[in-house]
Amino acid sequence: MTREKNVLVTGGAGYIGSHTIVQLVENGFNPIIADDFRNSDISVLKGLEQITGRKIVHYDLDVCNYIELKSIFKNHSIAGVIHFAADKAVGESVSNPLKYYKNNIGGLVNVLELCSEFEIENFVFSSSCTVYGEPKEEKEVSESTPLSKANSPYGNTKLVGEQILLDLHNSGARMNILSLRYFNPIGAHPSGLIGELPVGKPNNLLPYVTQTAIGKQNELTVFGKDYPTPDGTCIRDYIHVCDLAEAHVKAILLLQQKESNFIDQVNIGTGKGTSVLEIINSFERLTGEKLNWKFGPRREGDVVEIYANVSKSFELLNWKCKYTFEDAIEHAWSWEKNLAQHA
Ligand code: UD1
Repeated sequence: MTREKNVLVTGGAGYIGSHTIVQLVENGFNPIIADDFRNSDISVLKGLEQITGRKIVHYDLDVCNYIELKSIFKNHSIAGVIHFAADKAVGESVSNPLKYYKNNIGGLVNVLELCSEFEIENFVFSSSCTVYGEPKEEKEVSESTPLSKANSPYGNTKLVGEQILLDLHNSGARMNILSLRYFNPIGAHPSGLIGELPVGKPNNLLPYVTQTAIGKQNELTVFGKDYPTPDGTCIRDYIHVCDLAEAHVKAILLLQQKESNFIDQVNIGTGKGTSVLEIINSFERLTGEKLNWKFGPRREGDVVEIYANVSKSFELLNWKCKYTFEDAIEHAWSWEKNLAQHA
């Protein structure tokens, strides 16, 4: 395998990471996973093997461990890094901010130091639409929408992460960098062999919906019913995780074409806003399951309404979503049912 094809994927056993591994293999890349399985399960490797028909090289390590991480750079000639490894629970980041700064910022700095040392040319960063905060007037945000002060330590790690990359770029680093600002990934691989595997109670909406439907959770609480939206519930841009994963392959391909010292940021969403109640109604309609849910108080720090302007992602990455919102719900449900069967 030539060097251009070796891509290190930190957090590659996680939800978005594992789906990206599949897309990388399907596009002729040779992914190498670095993940300590703190928020994923080793069984994902089996799922990946079944889907791709090959074993994926993986290192069980913490990206904050410089010495261990360095061994990967020594063992493989790496053309690019996709850096997913990070914690992402907003509420937990408020109660335990240092965990977030250590892992999300410390881990990023570690990886970047090694990238500099080993002259890695291409770097893709997992950012988030959280960098926009609550959009002021226009709910459709583009990359030129001003960034907002973060409303959680988690959100701040994404803002600071992007800033670190800008500073590195401004220092003249010979690295091409792209930050992908994800909206809300949902769904699972159509095979039903990999998907989201929340440890403990899910924080995010769709795994909570599917776990309630399967009986792992008793009841779903809809956080708030009096927001200034058509049905009173919050609106997000939900994107199929396989589409989001494919955007990473496009990102690597783009960076490989650029001259050295390139940096940019791009939204990865569908461009369409969907409310919490629309998610629940679609889930019930598509699966025929009756969901046990109730309204509860608003969740602190929730953005009311946000969705992506996707023009730049089309132009820059030559990428478009292939899956519908309905596909994502159906695939998430198939995955939940598969998990229940094999429990
Ligand atoms: C949040 C973060 C986002 C981060 C993501 C990572 C904010 C504003 N957004 O996304 O930056 O990248 O987590 O996990 O901090 N909901 C319910 N009941 C539930 C769960 C969720 O009603 O049990 C609602 C929420 O109020 C929200 C929507 O569902 O309106 C989506 O919530 P969630 O899946 O947690 O994603 P975000 O809050 O958008």
